[in-house]
Amino acid sequence: MAARKAARKSAPPPLKSRKKPAKPAAAPAKPAAPAKHGAKLDELERRRAQALMGGGGERIQAQHAKGKLTARERIEALLDPDSFQEVGMLVEHRCRDFGLEKQVYPGDGVVTGYGSIGGRTVFVFSQDFTVLGGSLGEAHAGKICRLLDQAMKVGAPVIGLNDSGGARIQEGVVSLGGYADIFLRNTLASGVVPQISVILGPCAGGAVYSPAITDFTLMVEGTSYMFVTGPNVVKTVTNEDVTFEALGGALTHATKSGVAHLTAPNDLAVLKLTRELLAFLPQNNRERPPRRPTEDPAERTAAELDDLVPDDPKKPYDIRHAIRAIADDGAFLEVAPQYASNIVVGYIHLDGEAIGVVANQPAHLAGCLDIDGSLKGARFVRTCDCFNIPLLTLEDVPGFLPGVRQEHGGIIKHGAKLLYAYCEATVPKVTVITRKAYGGAYDVMNSKHIRGDINYAWPTAEMAVMGAKGAVKILYRKEIATAQDHAQAAAEKEAEFNAKFANPYAAAARGYVDEVIEARRTRPKLIAAFRMLANKRDRNPPKKHGNIPL
Ligand code: HXC
Repeated sequence: MAARKAARKSAPPPLKSRKKPAKPAAAPAKPAAPAKHGAKLDELERRRAQALMGGGGERIQAQHAKGKLTARERIEALLDPDSFQEVGMLVEHRCRDFGLEKQVYPGDGVVTGYGSIGGRTVFVFSQDFTVLGGSLGEAHAGKICRLLDQAMKVGAPVIGLNDSGGARIQEGVVSLGGYADIFLRNTLASGVVPQISVILGPCAGGAVYSPAITDFTLMVEGTSYMFVTGPNVVKTVTNEDVTFEALGGALTHATKSGVAHLTAPNDLAVLKLTRELLAFLPQNNRERPPRRPTEDPAERTAAELDDLVPDDPKKPYDIRHAIRAIADDGAFLEVAPQYASNIVVGYIHLDGEAIGVVANQPAHLAGCLDIDGSLKGARFVRTCDCFNIPLLTLEDVPGFLPGVRQEHGGIIKHGAKLLYAYCEATVPKVTVITRKAYGGAYDVMNSKHIRGDINYAWPTAEMAVMGAKGAVKILYRKEIATAQDHAQAAAEKEAEFNAKFANPYAAAARGYVDEVIEARRTRPKLIAAFRMLANKRDRNPPKKHGNIPL
């Protein structure tokens, strides 16, 4: 009892964002018991109280002092109030080396169980940094593996709350084996149940590969970091000086590496974001994402979209205006917003249905596809496809980004990933070409040729092998060189080229776009298309698995 009091004393500030006041998780009230079982119930209570204390009051305080919640407080903030059912609270490690026999904590540094988010079942594990630094040994790993196995059987998402010093050093190779057991299950569960990793503290060494295999990685700014080798090893090997934050903090992974899909300023905010993300995902690959009812009328038009695309084809605009104008209630959850900003990906609801959006962003690199953008897009398309989330593509792409760096970096194989992902996707796929659809990028961005189901174009759309300037230079080099006024000759040819291709009608005449629509009518047209496609069935030839150009 004293232990539980101490735990409460060192509880963090209340979880303000939740409606219900915080209560200690998994602490059932002591029932009135017949006297003959009193001692046994006391023993149960004592053991539970010990488990609830994790690594003890002092370490809990140290955790709070870093601005972090404890493993149990995080679960409480993540799940629907009072829904958590703990599994394996009294599991202990069996290591008897390096003094570990004197450091036995019930639960072994990870809280595991199931509960609900928005009324839907989820499995969750939450590493407890107050117990041996959240390090992972045999028993700790076994708890996570059992959770993953059960989640696969019942078809429910798994959310991992990571805060760990990595492989438990005292347990040696057994810890490494424990990680490998988890990696295997992460891989087998991939595409079967959604897996979300939330990084709320250290995540180093091989430990990073579990989050990396899962569908989404979310990080807390300032208190979490991920790297394969830390700053000290980096200094020894490459003589580079780098801080933890600069090497593997949330900002680094959100902007430079693309490892983090979403970030938030603190534990509570990242857990709220996790709940929001989950609302777009189904329970498993045999189900559809849940509907989110809306008052936003399906027939609503958006007049502002008629003026979104500037007259000057070189002028940028922000494609996110279009996404928000189309979406139910203007709500858009953008994924990886700070990485490869030339392509925008994320989730909206349309008439209550979850939709994944992939959009070229003319406001960044003119919307060109480059290596990072192709990787970001490909990953997103595959995530949507494996979880039955229909895809909306908004296209304004002048082509692949030219340059030695891109070619030597492998834009051929990386661009092919995006193409491959679109080609193999069998979910409903609808495209809207807002302006440019040039070159190979026209094919890649869910053209009809690669099984786009319904492809619209705005009247501002242009489809061609390349822009007029480049085309004229190649086609009319000699004429322009021998003309009296080179500039005028080039301008005339460009005008001729534009008259033919700087519009959607050549493509519409071939049926490469199904309809040219006023921009303002995009939302009702999309809703009609996705409603029609709701029961779409398409399949790829049977095979072990395809060979996406990795
Ligand atoms: C056992 C560990 C531990 C570990 C931390 N602790 N990491 N115990 N195994 N891997 C213990 C500490 O001894 C300490 O115990 C308590 O946890 C808190 O750690 P501190 O160091 O006091 O905390 P802090 O200063 O916040 O530093 C956190 C840290 C540091 C940066 C994570 O602990 C650290 O560098 N740990 C080792 C990280 C590491 O190299 N892990 C192996 C990575 S390789 P007391 O009793 O003092 O409270 C790996 C391979 C995976 O994980 C392979 C998969 C293929």
